[in-house]
Amino acid sequence: MATYDRKSEIKAFDDTKAGVKGLVDAGVTEIPRFFHRLPDANDGPDPTSVTHPEIPVIDLQDTAGRERVVELVRRASETFGFFQVLNHGVPQAVMDEMLEGVRRFNEQDLNVKMRYYTRDQSKTVLFNCNFDLYESPVANWRDTLFCAMAPEPAAKPEDLPEACREIIMEYTRQIQRLGHLLFELLSEGLGLDAQYLNDLECGKGLAHLSHYYPPCPEPELALGTSKHADPDFLTILLQDTIGGLQVLHQNQWIDVPPISGAFVVNIGDLLQSVEHRVQTSKIGPRVSVACFFTTHFYPLERRYGPIKKLLSETNLPKYKDITVREYVTLYNSKGLNGKSSLDNFRL
Ligand code: OGA
Ligand code: NI
Repeated sequence: MATYDRKSEIKAFDDTKAGVKGLVDAGVTEIPRFFHRLPDANDGPDPTSVTHPEIPVIDLQDTAGRERVVELVRRASETFGFFQVLNHGVPQAVMDEMLEGVRRFNEQDLNVKMRYYTRDQSKTVLFNCNFDLYESPVANWRDTLFCAMAPEPAAKPEDLPEACREIIMEYTRQIQRLGHLLFELLSEGLGLDAQYLNDLECGKGLAHLSHYYPPCPEPELALGTSKHADPDFLTILLQDTIGGLQVLHQNQWIDVPPISGAFVVNIGDLLQSVEHRVQTSKIGPRVSVACFFTTHFYPLERRYGPIKKLLSETNLPKYKDITVREYVTLYNSKGLNGKSSLDNFRL
């Protein structure tokens, strides 16, 4: 029997530069073996048989006032590390057009789209299927357009794909404003000055990961995104109406249901680790845009570590001081292998 040459299969697939969408367009009914997911200890019992806690939905214009909003954000961050926000000030038309732009990019002529297909991490705009295709144990049913938007040197308008150029510029402005507000609320929730996290430049870097999850002919065999925590301070995610995003909470996978007009906010590894994943579906494509607040590969020397003001004899530091670059280098070298990156920096 011929041995399965995983590496060559992956390479041949990568060389098509057509991603998962290329497989679907070619009419595959069985997914290639390198997409087959690994067993997950937290998958049983049947999720419909147990009652689940729900991810909080927070109205940022809550009439009870700012203190109430801070308290809700604090509680949700502590309990789940995930929440959804409404009344965030980003116009619905901008949200809709962002999803539409990502869809246009992915569904345009393959010859145009392929020009962006690369694994060259020095680029500010790159399109590929799985950033960790060669590193992770399993491939995910997902194609992604990555755009580094801040700080400089970031993608310039002319570097962005025409299919979504204008909306990405507008969306970035909106998300930076919302991110600034969320870092204020989180700072206040921690009992710090409102500008504490913004002054630490947590909101300085922004990268967009625009995902396209084509319908999957064998959804039980593959994941859209494997279990992971985000390599950033904070993520603001926009998802369409398909669903599939789940958070690992007390060893149970719980759904983050699509809510019209809402953003999903989650705390990243550099503030607090929360694991999540995306399931596949026969229905689709599913489109989502994850905006990562991180300075990523920019060689900023600033070191991040436990906030001194919050430490005490009973609240000892758990992690070393690290630069964002040290963290991201480790994260990318291992890919989404189900293991925590942050654990490598424990004291
Ligand atoms: C991510 C992520 C979720 C989604 O990009 O890190 O978790 O719904 N995305 O696409
Ligand atoms: Ni994520």
